[in-house]
Formats: sequence, structure tokens, C-alpha cells
Amino acid sequence: FYVLVLHGPNLNLLGQREPETYGSDTLNDINSKLNVISASLKIELSIFQENSEGALIDHIHAALGTKDGLLINPGAYTHTSVAIRDAIAGVSLPTVEVHLSNVYKRESFRHHSYIAPVAVGQISGFGWYSYILGLQALAHHFRKE
Ligand code: DQA
Repeated sequence: FYVLVLHGPNLNLLGQREPETYGSDTLNDINSKLNVISASLKIELSIFQENSEGALIDHIHAALGTKDGLLINPGAYTHTSVAIRDAIAGVSLPTVEVHLSNVYKRESFRHHSYIAPVAVGQISGFGWYSYILGLQALAHHFRKE
């Protein structure tokens, strides 16, 4: 199985960005952990970070016919982007939405996700481990399909 991993806006700042909320790992640290676990799950990864909505959408479109699933942390676009939701619905790729922080413990504007209704499921609150759980969940989803 081949999975597209997308990190949304501001996640390039991980490690220095609000470490009390997002942890001290950098994006490279998280990507390394994903690469280690993906091998044991027999999943191949293609990983990108983008700050702009359009660039994220272009990656989602390019996954059509080339990837089996999507693991995405849409960052703040989670709470604003009908366009990313429509892109995911448009390519109908099994998608798992992940968040480092528990968005339901935070400001109310973070409690709504435009993405969750088009995802298989959502994982929120486990720091970098949310990504590992997300990839395991996607692997489980592929195997039971
Ligand atoms: C986030 C949560 C979002 O609300 C926030 O805008 C982010 C990161 C998370 O991983 O916890 O940028 O997606």
C-alpha cells in the first residue's frame, strides 16, 4: 500500500512552535518515526508539508490513481477549508485525519472539522504518536477492505 502523508500550515515550525501544545519533536523527527513504522506495516510513504491550501489540494488530486490512502494533519485548515474537504471527497481516498493536540480540549473554533465527515476517522491528542496511530489505523482499514 502506498500512502500520501500531508502536513498542513505551520507544521514546518514544529519543535519551536508552542512546544507545550505541540511537543518538542520537529517535523523531521515525526517523519523519521513514520518511516520506521511504515516499513513494519509494509506501507510506502510520500510525505509533504505545505502552508497553502492550494498546494495541499494539488497533492490530493495527484494522489488519484497513484496512492491508496491519505494521512493528513490539515492544521488550521481543518476548521476552515471546504476546499480541502471537497478535494478529499473528490478523489475518494480512504483518509485519516490526525492532530497532535486534543482539539476538543482547546478553543471552541477548533471543535469543528470540515475534514472529519469525509475521513474514515480522526485521531487527536497524542502528540507525534497521533501520526503513528493514524498510519496503523489506515493499515488496518486497507487490510479489512
Ligand atoms: C493541529 C490543531 C489545529 O487546530 C491547529 O490549527 C494546528 C495543529 C494539531 O495538530 O493539533 O495547526 O492540527
